Amino acid sequence: MSSDLDRALDEAVLAAKSALTRCTTVDDWEAAATAHLGRKSAINGLLRQIATLPTDQRGPFGKRANESSRTLTAEFDARKADLLANSLAAVRDFDPSTPGVALRRGHEHPVLAIRREVEDVFVSMGFRVQDGPEVETEAYNFEALNIPSHHPARDFQDTFWVDDPAGRRLVMRTHTSPMQVRAMRQFGAPLRVIVPGRVYRNETADATHESAFHQVEGLVVDRGISVAHLKGVMAAVLGRLFGGEVAVRLRPHYFPFVEPGFELDFQCRFCAGAGCAVCKGTGWIELLGCGLVHAHVLKAGGVDPEAFTGFAFGLGLDRLTMMRHGVEDIRHFHGGDLRFFEQF
Ligand code: PHE
Repeated sequence: MSSDLDRALDEAVLAAKSALTRCTTVDDWEAAATAHLGRKSAINGLLRQIATLPTDQRGPFGKRANESSRTLTAEFDARKADLLANSLAAVRDFDPSTPGVALRRGHEHPVLAIRREVEDVFVSMGFRVQDGPEVETEAYNFEALNIPSHHPARDFQDTFWVDDPAGRRLVMRTHTSPMQVRAMRQFGAPLRVIVPGRVYRNETADATHESAFHQVEGLVVDRGISVAHLKGVMAAVLGRLFGGEVAVRLRPHYFPFVEPGFELDFQCRFCAGAGCAVCKGTGWIELLGCGLVHAHVLKAGGVDPEAFTGFAFGLGLDRLTMMRHGVEDIRHFHGGDLRFFEQF
């Protein structure tokens, strides 16, 4: 019996000492002291057993156990004093004037920065800024925009279709134009709104095409809106974005949701219209699709086409950013190469 107890005592003392050597902080110490000297510790259990021993064993084991406990307590106390002194020294030796480790800070993506600029310009002209869903219904993305099912834009190659457990016909929006109808339904006429956001096309990526890119939709609905308003607003906006006078021109173009429809070009900033590599010798750079809102679209938005007319445009933000910074490949915008982004 007594030899079992002796062995148990030896083990308890050893365990306590090795726990103590592993302590590097006052918190470690607290945990070790509780485990090895506390009420529920092995040593405490052994001390409590002394009283139950036969008288002849009680004396020798009791003495040894009590001595071990006292020594351990003294060692623990000494160690705690050391640890406390160390932690105080650490505080005292801290030099607040030492330069910190510089954190690497990120910054806005160049496309997002242009988007904010564009938003500011339009807000200053009385437009509201709206968000719209990137997953759209076929009805908003196509039908409400007067795009019949045989139109090439409905081609499966251009559109990412989304599986919907509820059986709705959903797409990743191929343009921000569905927001024309949503905005008219929500706010009615008259209305000035822009809708910046991401759009998706099922295309092979190359230097000027990505399967995800950014547009800003614009819509103005009021009494007597004409092509002159469209052209004037776009020239003013580009003047604000690029500084100075910016010459723009409209070329007739077909979009099912506008009539008449145009593509808007602005004069090349790099050669002032003389012709260069950037504008491929034409002196003009294509920027956006636009036109007067088709009567069918006004109706789909709940607006009376007899009382109101409107213009709409879909501005490509990536293209604009590329122009602004002379970026030659749109794929840089989605590549994770920090050397590219750190230039902005
Ligand atoms: N939604 C068209 C596109 O993505 C652009 C556009 C918008 C054209 C509004 C006319 C009016 O190409």
